[in-house]
Amino acid sequence: MKGRHMELTLVLVIALLSVAAAAGSHALSGCIDTCGNVSIPYPFGVGTSSIAGKNCFLEQAFDVTCKDKILYTGNVQISNISLEGQLDLHFFVSRFCYNSSGELDNSPRLSTPSFNSPWLSTPSFTISRTGNKFITVGCDSYGFLDNYHKGTMSYSTGCLTQCASLADVQSMQNDGYCTGVGCCQVDIPFGMNNITLRAESFTNFSNCLKFNDCSYAFIAKKGFYNFSLSHLKDLPNRTMPMVVDWAIGDEKCNASQKRATYACKNNSVCDDRNTWYGYRCRCKPGYEGNPYHPDGCQGN
Ligand SMILES: *[C@@H]1O[C@H](CO)[C@@H](O)[C@H](O)[C@H]1NC(C)=O
Ligand SMILES: *[C@@H]1O[C@H](CO)[C@@H](O)[C@H](O)[C@H]1NC(C)=O
Ligand SMILES: *[C@@H]1O[C@H](CO)[C@@H](O)[C@H](O)[C@H]1NC(C)=O
Ligand SMILES: *[C@@H]1O[C@H](CO)[C@@H](O)[C@H](O)[C@H]1NC(C)=O
Ligand SMILES: *[C@@H]1O[C@H](CO)[C@@H](O)[C@H](O)[C@H]1NC(C)=O
Ligand SMILES: *[C@@H]1O[C@H](CO)[C@@H](O)[C@H](O)[C@H]1NC(C)=O
Ligand SMILES: *[C@@H]1O[C@H](CO)[C@@H](O)[C@H](O)[C@H]1NC(C)=O
Ligand SMILES: *[C@@H]1O[C@H](CO)[C@@H](O)[C@H](O)[C@H]1NC(C)=O
Ligand SMILES: *[C@@H]1O[C@H](CO)[C@@H](O)[C@H](O)[C@H]1NC(C)=O
Repeated sequence: MKGRHMELTLVLVIALLSVAAAAGSHALSGCIDTCGNVSIPYPFGVGTSSIAGKNCFLEQAFDVTCKDKILYTGNVQISNISLEGQLDLHFFVSRFCYNSSGELDNSPRLSTPSFNSPWLSTPSFTISRTGNKFITVGCDSYGFLDNYHKGTMSYSTGCLTQCASLADVQSMQNDGYCTGVGCCQVDIPFGMNNITLRAESFTNFSNCLKFNDCSYAFIAKKGFYNFSLSHLKDLPNRTMPMVVDWAIGDEKCNASQKRATYACKNNSVCDDRNTWYGYRCRCKPGYEGNPYHPDGCQGN
């Protein structure tokens, strides 16, 4: 019985060790490798290492925080990190509402400044052009998305939607689809990384549109938002899933490879084909793991 017990313990210890080894290949040693249920692979990291006292992240942009088991970059929640260069975020929905007495509703539930005009600055990341849509919902509404560069607005996009009655929207038979009436959407331009977005209304629509008090504007991961007529009354979501592309540094491979800070470790190659600026690392064919981690890419 005792021998059997030992055997089981041994199996358990080995199992735990191999889990630790697998996890260890993602975060630096002495760094936390998960926050809630989100794993945190290097180059991302939280604070400093408990062993070496060094940064757990590669560069400032990858310094994330873990609070109450939720992972954040700035004030934006991260729901997944992929080593292929994507980050799933929950970014805010901007809402612009009139209340029943026809006044702009500034109640905290609806519109604190950050919800009214949410702002995202991610110098090393860009809003994924192919992974998202910019969407506006409402019936007397427009939404815009501004990109700032070096402190001044560099470009802007958005869309508008107007409809005189709920029947107009119903007649489009577009429940479930964002087709331009009640809901409009546009593509995200290249290279956006310091943005604000905002919903607005053309007129004081509480007077005429009893069925629609609010306008909403947001970025959503492609395919994740399904318009519903009920959203003209109330869109419950405070945030929407969104994808950003991340990359290392602000130069392409050929310039970066010469630098001491070059991030691609053993058995990996540099890849800048799909980056706006910066570069990514990939394990060489036949190797697997985390190409940014000192002992990342392992042969099979
Ligand atoms: C992670 O946790 C959140 C909140 O607890 C939950 O909604 C989500 O489904 C979880 N995701 C996975 C992949 O388990
Ligand atoms: C997170 O990203 C990885 C890599 O792209 C993917 O395999 C995984 O399914 C994603 N997880 C969630 C919960 O979206
Ligand atoms: C909208 O119209 C109502 C009724 O005419 C008025 O009381 C209210 O002040 C107006 N709101 C704004 C923001 O102009
Ligand atoms: C509408 O909003 C105004 C301004 O915030 C507030 O003074 C008024 O009490 C609100 N009316 C209702 C019915 O909530
Ligand atoms: C982003 O834009 C804001 C607003 O203009 C500006 O204050 C800030 O410096 C910009 N951040 C970066 C990293 O360009
Ligand atoms: C919005 O919220 C509703 C209700 O909580 C949820 O069922 C839906 O999946 C959310 N939509 C998105 C795109 O997150
Ligand atoms: C939106 O609709 C598609 C297709 O019907 C479905 O796969 C997806 O889960 C829906 N998304 C949400 C957030 O409900
Ligand atoms: C890097 O490559 C780009 C084109 O791919 C070229 O324009 C640039 O001059 C190269 N830079 C260096 C430092 O070799
Ligand atoms: C990485 O490769 C270099 C040169 O090929 C070698 O000296 C070094 O020991 C390797 N490091 C690791 C962690 O395998």
